[in-house]
Amino acid sequence: MTDTAELLQLAIGIAREAGELARRRRNEGVRIAATKSALADIVTVADREVEALIRARLEQERPDDGFFGEESGAEAGTSGITWVVDPIDGTVNYAYGIPSYAVSVAAVEGDPDPTRWRALVGVVFAPVLGELFHAEAGGGAWLESDAERERLTVRAHAPEAGGLIATGFGYDPATHAGDLARLTRVMPLARDIRRMGSASLDLCYVAAGRLDGYFERGLQPWDHAAGALIVEESGGRVGGVPGGRPGNDLTIAAGPELFSALEAAIDERG
Ligand code: IPD
Repeated sequence: MTDTAELLQLAIGIAREAGELARRRRNEGVRIAATKSALADIVTVADREVEALIRARLEQERPDDGFFGEESGAEAGTSGITWVVDPIDGTVNYAYGIPSYAVSVAAVEGDPDPTRWRALVGVVFAPVLGELFHAEAGGGAWLESDAERERLTVRAHAPEAGGLIATGFGYDPATHAGDLARLTRVMPLARDIRRMGSASLDLCYVAAGRLDGYFERGLQPWDHAAGALIVEESGGRVGGVPGGRPGNDLTIAAGPELFSALEAAIDERG
């Protein structure tokens, strides 16, 4: 039997240590290590160093678990648990000195495939903002900051004035026309739109009621693994293409009422 409370404490400790390392490195100056899927898709030296730290800590504490990270790839384990890690979610913000970036760490059970896994714990730590969001399956979602420890609840009803809705655009220019068409379909549901640049924080902000909803195409598993559980544990819904799980094709998160409206508006067949 997996002790999820133990996994959560481990994830919180590691995310805090990793976030502080990212922040320290940022203060020393950013170095771009490489570009990835497109020229705009960058990886910094800190992304790699922070992921190496997380991976080493997990190997030390949980040698039988698998690992699936943005920068260093996947390694199967034997325990049935896999850690899904984005060392710096919001790398472009990080490179530009915008504080909205976070370390995202999740432990999932089953096949390390977001269409099949069961998330056990999720932690998203934004070191500059001093906010740590976390959830344990069945245990609710929480925000810890210097000021408070608060249980998170999504906004249950879609506001009459329209929702405050966040989205994102992938780095591949070929997908931007589709992204903008989707945004046009969502606009009638929105009082305003936000593009903050860190998918894990967008999801946590839905959980915290700071956003009414969020949608994006093109996410990778490590972008949403922790944040999706945090939304679900705060009473929200998270999905993908109609009826599906969150994934690369689409991720939608919102309170129950807005979720259905977003799903219908985004569905191209509608
Ligand atoms: C990115 C951020 C961004 C989203 C991109 C992601 P990264 O993650 O979450 O908000 O729009 O799709 O790739 O690359 O900074 O880890």
